[in-house]
Amino acid sequence: MTIADYLEQFWLQYQSEVPAAKDIYELFLDRGEDITFLSHDHLALRTFNDPRVNIETMMQPFVAMGYTVSNMTYDFPAKKLFARHYEPPQEDMPKIFISELLLEQFSETLQSIIKNTLDQIPQAILNDSKTLAHSKTNWKLNFEDYEILAAESEYASWLYAYGFRANHFAIRVNHLKTFENCKEINDFLRTKNYKINEENGELKGGPEVLLEQSSIMAQYADVEFTDGIHKIPSCYYEFTQRFPDKTGALYPGFVAASADKIFESTNKH
Ligand code: NI
Repeated sequence: MTIADYLEQFWLQYQSEVPAAKDIYELFLDRGEDITFLSHDHLALRTFNDPRVNIETMMQPFVAMGYTVSNMTYDFPAKKLFARHYEPPQEDMPKIFISELLLEQFSETLQSIIKNTLDQIPQAILNDSKTLAHSKTNWKLNFEDYEILAAESEYASWLYAYGFRANHFAIRVNHLKTFENCKEINDFLRTKNYKINEENGELKGGPEVLLEQSSIMAQYADVEFTDGIHKIPSCYYEFTQRFPDKTGALYPGFVAASADKIFESTNKH
């Protein structure tokens, strides 16, 4: 399998299971934008820091296919998250932004729910990180547990309900012909009735930090729990513009203060 084929598995899952992602992608194509899954700025993954599924484990297949870890790291003390990013083997491929929840910083209750959750993943899937990274939920979904997790961490409850998959793809605004910036995209999407993430302002970052981002709020989707269907926030779409640094090169990294608010795109709203 090539790295493009592997990335496409995440993209097809995201496009088929997140109606907003498919619709927005098609709106962009209808305007004449030439974007493919490979021309996105990044693909974002979420996980727990349990060694069975942590960043290093999840990234094994990407690294085997040429991705390299960046030495830039990102800390989110309030959300108790750690993140890193990986650079693609070719420039015209998405970066990977991957975060992990720091389990030991949470209550015993949260830790035991997550341990019990991960214990249910079949060993064959745990042994195969290529499958694991988009294996979704191989566990029973209990709505009471979901709510207990949500009270401590909306990241934990989202990951419990949706499992391992693309949390979002981010369109690279620099490649667009019909939009100059994130603000124009937000205004366009509002006319299509999408709700923009306005936590701390609709634009995260800006030219002064060499990275500007915005995103829609995740739409609610039906998720089947053991006691029936519940409507909860799903995945979202993001937009990323990079600016050149003093050397003229586009800033390659992410900005923790911005990502901190983008995480909240999957919060209840
Ligand atoms: Ni992102």
